[in-house]
Amino acid sequence: MAAELSPIDTAKFVAAQRAVGFVENGMKVGLGTGSTAAWMVRCLGERIREEGLRVTGVPTSARTAELALKVGVPITTLDDAKWLDLTIDGADEFDPALNLIKGGGAALLQEKIVATASDQMIVIADAAKEVAQLGAFALPVEVIPFGWQTTKALIEETLVSMDVMGRDCSLRMNGQSPLVTDEANYIVDLHLKRIGNARQLALVLNQIPGVVENGLFIDICDMVVIGHADGRVIVRDINSGERTDDRIDLIPGDNIFADLKD
Ligand code: A5P
Repeated sequence: MAAELSPIDTAKFVAAQRAVGFVENGMKVGLGTGSTAAWMVRCLGERIREEGLRVTGVPTSARTAELALKVGVPITTLDDAKWLDLTIDGADEFDPALNLIKGGGAALLQEKIVATASDQMIVIADAAKEVAQLGAFALPVEVIPFGWQTTKALIEETLVSMDVMGRDCSLRMNGQSPLVTDEANYIVDLHLKRIGNARQLALVLNQIPGVVENGLFIDICDMVVIGHADGRVIVRDINSGERTDDRIDLIPGDNIFADLKD
């Protein structure tokens, strides 16, 4: 079955499979959003079916909630769960300190709330997401629709005094209309090319009226699981400084792919 996966999907799958190995019975688990996180939700569903694992998931988007229900992962709301043991999510970029850019899938707001409300956050990624310095991927900023053009202008003005290489900002579109997030907001993408001081930028952006949240995750991620197309998996723990090299068997059960056959 794995032979049918593209190299990039295989890398995402093995990262997801390894990360799901950290989930223990009775855990409350934040379920990320995006193509890598979708593999994690499928792998979790498989452990529930095969091993009778008992977990409760808190999804970070409507589409993750839909997938979780489809593959048999029980879900609840963050308000009901209150505090989570673990969140597993993808990322658009991660740096050596495991600071992240997220929000390529427009779910950064719920993702940040859920990850922050977790004892531990594990990022799952293919090797292309690793960068020496954040910023090549456009930084998503969630803004309220009211006065969004003014908010965008304020962001652009703020960027003049920031240590960044580019300053172009664009409203994310969905066809002819602005893309609307699950929280009914818009996304402004900041094309910064290089972010010199991500911690400072994250704080400053959130001071601008109209900005709800930005896609910089600073000191939130504890561990990254990096998958490769040949089945190799590297686990890096930022707290212990440990790095583990592993390998995942590339013969997953057919039922992992059940939702893909729809
Ligand atoms: C969703 O809003 C994002 O934060 C995703 O986690 C991120 O874009 C990674 O997505 P992929 O796993 O699809 O690359």
